[in-house]
Amino acid sequence: MPMPESVTVGIEDIAFSTAGSVIDLSVIADAHGVPHDKFYVGIGQNQMSVAGPDEDPVTLAAAAVDEIKQRNDLTAVRTLLLATESGVDQSKSAGVFVHGLVGLHPNVRVLELKQACYSATGALMLARSLVTSDPSEKVLVVATDIAKYDIGSSGEPTQGAGAVAMLISTTPRILALDRPTGVYTDDVMDFWRPNHRKTALVDGKFSIEAYLRALSESWEDYSARGGRPYSELTTVCFHQPFTKMANKAHRHLAEINSSRQTGEEIATLLDPTQIYNRRIGNTYTASMYFSLISLLENSEKDLDGAHVGFFSYGSGSVGEFWSATIQPGYRNYISRENSVRKLDCRTEVGYLEYLDFHQHGLPENGSSAEVERKTSSGGFRLSGIDSDRRRYENFI
Ligand code: HMG
Repeated sequence: MPMPESVTVGIEDIAFSTAGSVIDLSVIADAHGVPHDKFYVGIGQNQMSVAGPDEDPVTLAAAAVDEIKQRNDLTAVRTLLLATESGVDQSKSAGVFVHGLVGLHPNVRVLELKQACYSATGALMLARSLVTSDPSEKVLVVATDIAKYDIGSSGEPTQGAGAVAMLISTTPRILALDRPTGVYTDDVMDFWRPNHRKTALVDGKFSIEAYLRALSESWEDYSARGGRPYSELTTVCFHQPFTKMANKAHRHLAEINSSRQTGEEIATLLDPTQIYNRRIGNTYTASMYFSLISLLENSEKDLDGAHVGFFSYGSGSVGEFWSATIQPGYRNYISRENSVRKLDCRTEVGYLEYLDFHQHGLPENGSSAEVERKTSSGGFRLSGIDSDRRRYENFI
């Protein structure tokens, strides 16, 4: 067995799912009485995926994990780490529902992790440690979320829904994780969701400042620990609550590194990392990983051997800056056509149906209810609740 330090660990396969419905942001702009360009240009979002009543973080995660299962032999998987900030139970991990729905082997440990949008990166770093300590094992990491703010609030145009699943191993076909990483934690109230609320609370402008501070501090830690110089990074995938946030972040990073990149140059550089995020919206834990898939599938440049930076931010707050090396031949394991099909086949909903979906809730008094099949896609749905027990069904 090789020494742990020499083991290369990274992403062997990656897949995503999103909700079955979508709304154009012009509809939300009309409801807010603002020009469409405030959202299309000002925050850089065109659409957002909308979860229907029978979709939740479990069904989204199951669809993404199932796609990985269809393409890979998962007998070496000993751990499933599910990252979410829209968990469905205060005790039971959403990952255990996913494990059952997808039919993973019983000899697997399952955990749910939480720290706002950051926790999938925490899960990825823990997965690296597990795989490094026993290179014969693989880990499934799945990030899944439904971003929900109050109707009429500033956060409303930055909602979304989706999941990204990744198979982590010592045979990374997509990317290999570099060392070191840079980390930063600061106890701030920029965005949070108390247990009694279905929608998040946010101090919008302050959250942008907190994000940028976490970026500079994480970058400083990454650099101090011997990270790659800025000039070696081909591009950066940022956490994208809305795509314009990535432009603000990259400008900040360029300034810290005394780079003279113009806004236009940054926009061109980041464009491939934003194409799917523009159409899906904020997916909290999954957002930066959607940006990675978008880059891999939409970059005109061949990224074989490219060093890419990543900045993961979770309000509250935790940030981590890290980098990875794209593996030669990665293009054989991705499919732009498959991704675009998933986005194109969503059902477009109007404002009233969106409101209906937004307000839909399950009984909270222990009574039972069936959940009507609406626009769920991906093969798994929440079919009902029986005395506070969620019931799922596989309709593949
Ligand atoms: P707002 O107050 O509605 O928007 O909220 P604004 O007035 O600041 O305008 C936004 C931009 O649009 C501005 O550009 C305007 O100039 C421009 P900027 O100054 O930023 O470059 N604009 C226009 N552009 C073109 N044509 C027009 C036009 N009108 C205005 N006609 C805010 C914006 C982001 C605060 C809001 O969307 C919000 O509260 N979002 C939720 C919070 C958020 O996403 N924060 C990001 C950092 S925190 C984070 O990433 C963590 C998070 O994902 C949660 C987690 O970790 O779990 C949120």
